Amino acid sequence: MTLHSRYPAISDLKARARRRIPHFVWEYLDSATGIEATQARNRAMLDQVMLDPSILHGEFEPDLSTTFLGKTFPLPIGIAPVGMSGLIWPGAEQMLARTAATENIPYTLSTVASQLPEDVGPHAGEHAWFQLYPPRDPDIRDDILKRAKASGFTTLALTVDVPVASRRERQTRGGLTNPPKLTPRLAMQAAQCPAWLNGIRKTGMPRLRLMESYSENRSALPSNQHIGYLMRTSPDWDYFKALRDVWDGPLIVKGVNRPDDAARLTDEGADAIWVSNHAGRQFDGGPATIETLPGVRAATTLPVIFDSGIEGGLDVLRALALGADFVMLGRAFHYGLGALGEPGAAHVLDILRQDMISNMGQLGTKTLRFLPNCLRVTQ
Ligand code: LAC
Repeated sequence: MTLHSRYPAISDLKARARRRIPHFVWEYLDSATGIEATQARNRAMLDQVMLDPSILHGEFEPDLSTTFLGKTFPLPIGIAPVGMSGLIWPGAEQMLARTAATENIPYTLSTVASQLPEDVGPHAGEHAWFQLYPPRDPDIRDDILKRAKASGFTTLALTVDVPVASRRERQTRGGLTNPPKLTPRLAMQAAQCPAWLNGIRKTGMPRLRLMESYSENRSALPSNQHIGYLMRTSPDWDYFKALRDVWDGPLIVKGVNRPDDAARLTDEGADAIWVSNHAGRQFDGGPATIETLPGVRAATTLPVIFDSGIEGGLDVLRALALGADFVMLGRAFHYGLGALGEPGAAHVLDILRQDMISNMGQLGTKTLRFLPNCLRVTQ
């Protein structure tokens, strides 16, 4: 039996991952903020994007390759940063970095991941990106950037959609703290997930190791107030300028949804705009990212990255049709790891690839560049 016959969709991996990841960790991975209306909207509005299939276009092999920030990629897809990745699946950061290297796609390491840039960079291949939660102290900031660069991270993504901690009510109910503390209730949940527990025995209980290397504060905090949050600032335009001055590689700004912000970032020297609402984890009263994408696209000449809610190859095509140049997924890759361990991440990519090929065949689209022409024009 092939992986495709057992797990044809990302939802199959999600269902298996849910059984293999302890409940309190699952609640961290799968939840959003508030009543999760924006998370649901991300999905619902993607489903409303219609493309028009064409007929009599003959046989062809779709070309899924793309260029982005001067590099060529076999797919317009990368791995988004996910905090506490190694708690979701033990060793996740290195596993995802290796998958990205093998597949020649970007892997983004989060500031609040559980492994250090020094330990992950060597695995990540050519396209290692580093996500920055901006530390308040400029010396710490510069040291982190220096360490990331020395570890092979070439591209920086500054997250701007987390100006303050969000409430994450479901996550709080789940009982996760940072660093994680296995109370009797959580230990019972962990005991039901032997593969996860075995992994944790090897890696040790994941911690925010990069942040902790700058801080003595290791007391357990609620997961939405962890040390990574306490040390960082809510950046402003001056912070962005300062960062632009000190980082000489490509600088992407992640969490942009408004055309005026995209236009200003273009003027101020960003290299790409990343449309994201943090998958609904920060603000529950906003639009879906697929709704904000066209406005951002129209406001900038820079390449545009899209995330939040992508669950299949058709979704990737939808985002590209509406003007994205590149698409990132975070949760989906962790569903893959939770379901199947390291091979699960490559299987997620394979699902996305096969789904793109199949749908491009229906559309009669040989290249990704042609996708905007496939948008259904409503009467
Ligand atoms: C989150 C932070 C860590 O969404 O980015 O959980």
